[in-house]
Amino acid sequence: MSPKRAISPDAARWLTARFGEGARFSEPLALHTSLSVGGPADALVTAQDAAALSDLITGCAMRNLPLAFLGGGTNLLVPDEGFPGVVARLGKGFSGIRIQRTPAGALLDAGAAAPLPRAVARAQEKGWAGMLFAVGIPGTVGGAVAGNAGTREGWVSDAIADFDCVGPGGETRRLGREEVRWSYRSLSPMGGEPGWKVITRARFFLAPGDPEALKEQAGRMLAQRRQSQPLSQKSAGCFFKNPEKGPAAGALIERAGMKGQTLGGAMVSDIHANFIVNRGNASGSDILGLIARVRDRVEKEFGIQLESEVKILGA
Ligand code: EPU
Repeated sequence: MSPKRAISPDAARWLTARFGEGARFSEPLALHTSLSVGGPADALVTAQDAAALSDLITGCAMRNLPLAFLGGGTNLLVPDEGFPGVVARLGKGFSGIRIQRTPAGALLDAGAAAPLPRAVARAQEKGWAGMLFAVGIPGTVGGAVAGNAGTREGWVSDAIADFDCVGPGGETRRLGREEVRWSYRSLSPMGGEPGWKVITRARFFLAPGDPEALKEQAGRMLAQRRQSQPLSQKSAGCFFKNPEKGPAAGALIERAGMKGQTLGGAMVSDIHANFIVNRGNASGSDILGLIARVRDRVEKEFGIQLESEVKILGA
């Protein structure tokens, strides 16, 4: 039985008329995520500029069409049912990166669709420090901000000055770092704020640095990461948040005996136990089933409920 689709023939005609080749129907989302699993979106729409984005948000709201945004797909698990509605991504008009001088130093101003590694490299090449916290994080600038991404060197919330976003009514706003509530791998609007549907640009603080020294430091960080994480395999990065206190999620999973365990094509990485990898033929259900087993075992052993860091589309 095919899953229920949300898009009516009328809505499909509107998407085609407004977005042309930027609207694709029954698009397999496995092609757009680093885990390479999951079913189709009814439609995958690329918004090339701010006007298109605003029309997409208001048009979907008017038609009661579920709308979800996709960044680089590097921190996302798509279930096998796919997504009954529109999945949107930002196109080339949102991928520019520039460095603006300020009296205090500079700001790296990047479109949300720009790859985060490119933003990191740009700052480093030009001799600006401030983006090292993001070394080795894949995905887009927008995805990184939306998930308050980070490493041991720091998080987005430490480095960001402000971001532009489009609200539920299609309006664009700029929010300063102090105007939102940041937490571990997430951010939320302050009480009474309408919030945002999607982040479109972000600006990060930079300080003068030495390009060679920055390059060396980034190289060391990447080498360390390559040694301790299964970077050549398909994954969504660390799957669970580290508990606030006590051992890291990877340590708990290893101690619970789950390192290297498999379910269908999914496997708890034998390099780093907080990575769930797709061995090549995994389904979304294999991944979901394996994470349920991991959570269950860790809870039974240690009484700790691991919380997913990876977003599950539609959940
Ligand atoms: N550990 C184990 N077994 C494992 C893996 C780890 O015992 O299989 C132990 C390690 O020995 C260490 C502890 O767990 O004592 C922490 O491990 P690690 O140093 O690898 O760091 P992490 O907390 O697992 C965090 C971020 C990573 C980030 C690294 C490096 C989270 C959930 N993870 O990993 O972020 O790359 O630090 O900065 O915050 C991601 O967000 O996708 C991600 C991979």
